[in-house]
Amino acid sequence: MLQVGLVGYGFMGKMHAQCYQATGQAQVAALVDVEPDRRADARSKFGCEVFESIEEMLASMQVDLIDICTPTYLHETHVISASKAGVPIMCEKPLSLTLDSCDRMIEVVREADVPMMVGQVLRFCNEYVMAKELVDSDRYGKVLWASCSRTSPPADWSWQGWLKDPEKSGGAILDLHIHDVDFLAWLLGTPVDVRARGVRSTMGAVDSVFTTSIHEGNVVSYAQGTLMLSRTSPFNMAFTINLERATIQMDI
Ligand SMILES: NC(=O)c1ccc[n+]([C@@H]2O[C@H](COP(=O)([O-])OP(=O)(O)OC[C@H]3O[C@@H](n4cnc5c(N)ncnc54)[C@H](O)[C@@H]3O)[C@@H](O)[C@H]2O)c1
Repeated sequence: MLQVGLVGYGFMGKMHAQCYQATGQAQVAALVDVEPDRRADARSKFGCEVFESIEEMLASMQVDLIDICTPTYLHETHVISASKAGVPIMCEKPLSLTLDSCDRMIEVVREADVPMMVGQVLRFCNEYVMAKELVDSDRYGKVLWASCSRTSPPADWSWQGWLKDPEKSGGAILDLHIHDVDFLAWLLGTPVDVRARGVRSTMGAVDSVFTTSIHEGNVVSYAQGTLMLSRTSPFNMAFTINLERATIQMDI
């Protein structure tokens, strides 16, 4: 049984904890969160050890994997602590808020020689994986164009409102749009040309973004993402991939 040290027990940390349990092959052995009620909730649900800081956990016990589900602006410090302890890392997306920060993290992880994975989750979601396999199979010819959409009301749930602060979350571009940008690059290759436009929310963040890219072979992709739907509108994700002899569509 893989022993996981989970850091951050908010929306995503809770989701990861349930998923580990559902596999039957991993369990949350240690939980780190700054909020006492969240630590108590995790202890009662998973029977795990609980800690106030990642340093306290690392000093007290050994785990096989450290899973970082803290707010994005804290990823760098937590990844560095985990890698210095020599423990393999799963870090939620986006890896960090700037390229410099990502480079520092990658350097420390490489020096420590620990594996690290970033939670670009679409590469593991059935619908997206099936689409990728169909495209790669060449069964329906080449892709002519592809579009992706991810639309959501404002992110009201976050701890201390960090998701609404672009300095801490990167706004819709880094927190939401990154999923579809990553999927399209995985599907069609790194774009050779990218044009994007955004709209600011009243909070000042660019919380709607519209990106058109050209990939090798003149394949056009378009992605839109917003955190500006009205609060009564449901979250939605969708894609259309138009090939020479078929169209693959998803809308949920
Ligand atoms: N892959 C996906 O589809 C997906 C979806 C949602 C969120 N995320 C990412 O997951 C990460 C967490 O987002 P969230 O929505 O769960 O946030 P959240 O606000 O719901 O939870 C953050 C948690 O971190 C805790 N925390 C804060 N400082 C801490 C510290 N120093 N040490 C330990 N715990 C601390 C908070 O108490 C809270 O429980 C973000 O990077 C976000 O972008 C990914």
